[in-house]
Amino acid sequence: MSQILKVAMPKGRIYNKAAELFRQAGLPIPPDGEESRKLVISLPEAGMEFILAKPVDVPTYVEYGVADIGIVGKDVLLEENRDVYELLDLGIARCRMSIIGLPNWQPGIQQRVATKYPNVASRYFREQGQQVEVVKLNGSIELAPLIGLADRIVDMVETGQTLKDNGLVEMKSIFEITSRLVANRVSYRMKNEEIQQLCDRLQAVITGPGLATDGVQR
Ligand code: PRP
Repeated sequence: MSQILKVAMPKGRIYNKAAELFRQAGLPIPPDGEESRKLVISLPEAGMEFILAKPVDVPTYVEYGVADIGIVGKDVLLEENRDVYELLDLGIARCRMSIIGLPNWQPGIQQRVATKYPNVASRYFREQGQQVEVVKLNGSIELAPLIGLADRIVDMVETGQTLKDNGLVEMKSIFEITSRLVANRVSYRMKNEEIQQLCDRLQAVITGPGLATDGVQR
């Protein structure tokens, strides 16, 4: 008998792209919670339960096994460093992690970098042999160089519009980001058939015709 698969879905910018991918793969997906604020949605007839989580928490739910699988950006995976099994690059929500600054930036004696990704930023500058002070912020990171909190920021760039509107420049892209399907290590063994089936369906859509890498049907 097949077992219920618990899926952690990130609320917010990835949700619609992931939902589109699931639909294309013929998998069930609850509608984006506009009309309801329900966070756990059970679809017993499909053998699935959806947990609508804050994106940064998805790897935590999966590591602890309260979700068997989850969808999460590579940025969050690298920042959170949770013990989860990365199954599939979904190729959606494509963007990049970059170093950003004011156009006239010069290396100073005291370098301060603001970011939502302190682990990613610290690791990067350590590997570069650069000594910087990393300051954690929770959003609107572009403010930091504008008002003098930091010299540079490490942040996600998708269209580049936020940078442009704030007179900032992308100094270096440090890695590409896409959303990944991750699994709890025990669930992957115990619910292998269910997880593998879902993976195969998603893989067929990703590699097949009709769905571009940004998750948009052409
Ligand atoms: C993200 C990121 C940038 C922006 C990049 O912020 O931190 O600010 O999107 O996108 P763009 O290149 O298409 O302009 P988000 O919208 O998640 O909000 P936040 O500032 O609250 O983190």
